[in-house]
Amino acid sequence: MSAFHREKVLSVQHWTDTLFSFRATRNSGFRFQNGQFAMIGLEVDGRPLMRAYSMASANHEDELEFFSIKVADGPLTSRLQRIKEGDTILVGRKATGTLIADNLIPGKRLLLLSTGTGLAPFASLIKDPEVYEQFETIVLVHGCRQVSELAYGEELVAKLRDDELFGPLLTEKLVYYPTVTREPFRNRGRITDLITSKQLFDDIGQSPLDIETDRVMMCGSPAMLEELRQMFEARGFAEGNNSEPGHFVIEKAFVER
Ligand code: A2P
Repeated sequence: MSAFHREKVLSVQHWTDTLFSFRATRNSGFRFQNGQFAMIGLEVDGRPLMRAYSMASANHEDELEFFSIKVADGPLTSRLQRIKEGDTILVGRKATGTLIADNLIPGKRLLLLSTGTGLAPFASLIKDPEVYEQFETIVLVHGCRQVSELAYGEELVAKLRDDELFGPLLTEKLVYYPTVTREPFRNRGRITDLITSKQLFDDIGQSPLDIETDRVMMCGSPAMLEELRQMFEARGFAEGNNSEPGHFVIEKAFVER
């Protein structure tokens, strides 16, 4: 048995010259938890060329969705960015990852902190009705350099707000906070600074960090993750993993090339 499922590309959307997303068929045997990742890729010269990708679709969806960067000389993404409807991609049979609600101690507010394509696992999680049952409030923060890089997230949230099931849940529980660092926008600054200065909490009209109630998932640039880890640990937050739940969990945004 091959380690991969062969899936058909159903649609591709290019968001900027460095970002695209695509949807593909999903083998009925491919199971995952929202927030997890799998190895995906292409057959190149008869061999699989695979990288880790978070599923951006939720596990109740029939199709798979992925959100990717494009790197001109990246071994996989230089090829993957040229895929078209009808092409075949490979999807590893096994999903894994730490960004799952079970790895967190129960809490009241869930902070989802992401930069760039680190948004992908949270795109899956905010389509999980159970997450809305487990937390009173979910704050989705997405930091990018430029406004144009927010488009995928903006559209995702807008679509969910119009959804019959998720619309009311989002209205009641989800706060979406996009922020931009290198050009004017209504929210500006790095996620680390926005938390330290409490600006994020002022802007959304909520109380600042509280270890009793706050649980955190983070995904994105390694530099940001390292700073956030130190910041949360300095406040007594403990990192969770698949064997022991904690106050926060971390996954880097995988595909760099
Ligand atoms: P900045 O523009 O100030 O570098 P990148 O495209 O490099 O992955 O960055 C994505 C976003 O993450 C950018 O808004 C960037 O801000 C921000 N960022 C990069 N490094 C850090 C860090 N160490 N802490 C917080 N945010 C960061």
